[in-house]
Amino acid sequence: MAETGFQDQLAQTAVATESALDLLLSPEAAAGETVRPGRLLEAMRHAMLGGGKRLRPALVAAAARLFGVDGEGPLRAGLAIECVHGYSLVHDDLPAMDDDDLRRGRPTVHRAFDEATAILAGDALQTLAFDVLADERTHSDAAVRIALVATLARAAGVGGMAGGQLLDLAAEGRFGGGAAGLMAEHDVAQLQAMKTGALLEASVEMGAILGRADPAARTALKAYAKALGAAFQVADDLLDVEGAAGTVGKATGKDAVAGKATLVGIRGVEGARLRLEQLTDDALVALAPFGEAAEPLRGAARFVAMRDR
Ligand code: IPE
Ligand code: IPE
Ligand code: MG
Ligand code: MG
Ligand code: MG
Repeated sequence: MAETGFQDQLAQTAVATESALDLLLSPEAAAGETVRPGRLLEAMRHAMLGGGKRLRPALVAAAARLFGVDGEGPLRAGLAIECVHGYSLVHDDLPAMDDDDLRRGRPTVHRAFDEATAILAGDALQTLAFDVLADERTHSDAAVRIALVATLARAAGVGGMAGGQLLDLAAEGRFGGGAAGLMAEHDVAQLQAMKTGALLEASVEMGAILGRADPAARTALKAYAKALGAAFQVADDLLDVEGAAGTVGKATGKDAVAGKATLVGIRGVEGARLRLEQLTDDALVALAPFGEAAEPLRGAARFVAMRDR
């Protein structure tokens, strides 16, 4: 039941996010812009439209709803984080990074366009995210908008997603250091918390900011989001080993070949499954203070653990 509840919300969020992104990425220049070059805009649209689970926007919405907040604010905060997520995927797939040809069941942006256009599409998606957050339609109170901007910026930057991506590549042994095989589990968990966990944590945190959650609620949600973020990447690593590209929408069986630092690499498939269950339990336990109202967030944690794409 709970799973169905969250998956209904995920489906609703996906529809709302898709049409809002379509508007956001329209050909007309916004105030202060000159023109939107067609090739760049098309690459951004390719990256953002027609795919993706929209988990991060759904987490923003579910967290905000815990505090009775609904509507355009959470939707726009979700758009912003989805733009940063989309940018991170476009760059992650580049030949200089994971060198992937398939994303969300379609050619990656540098395949459908070219590398330079893909780099610029990522750049422009990142700045668009902060444009969305800075807009008064996101929240009437400037202090709330600034808190949203700061939260997303910290999560995406050197000490968050971008830093985690660097550590992920370093663990392949690319920059001459020790390779993934020698890494302690704690270090793998930390790099995953950065590359993947940070944006998922920020999604929940932004919902809490919009909900003007009190410090105790914020702390409980942080513990939930940390566990959920870690679980999400363990599930992603398991999908790389066990998933079929046709279902997952991206190439599988690549992590071990690339020498990626994964929990599957350290503990094996069974060990990683066990850890995924533990992390899911941790996420559920953290929600105890919220009682019944947190059922959608519980559904999100269960969804993350059992997803097949
Ligand atoms: C994939 O994220 C990249 C990781 C952070 C592991 P998602 O699995 O959320 O990708 P989409 O948005 O649904 O395609
Ligand atoms: C990607 O992790 C994380 C970010 C894009 C920040 P992965 O490299 O494992 O993601 P997939 O498997 O390509 O989606
Ligand atoms: Mg990667
Ligand atoms: Mg990748
Ligand atoms: Mg992966």
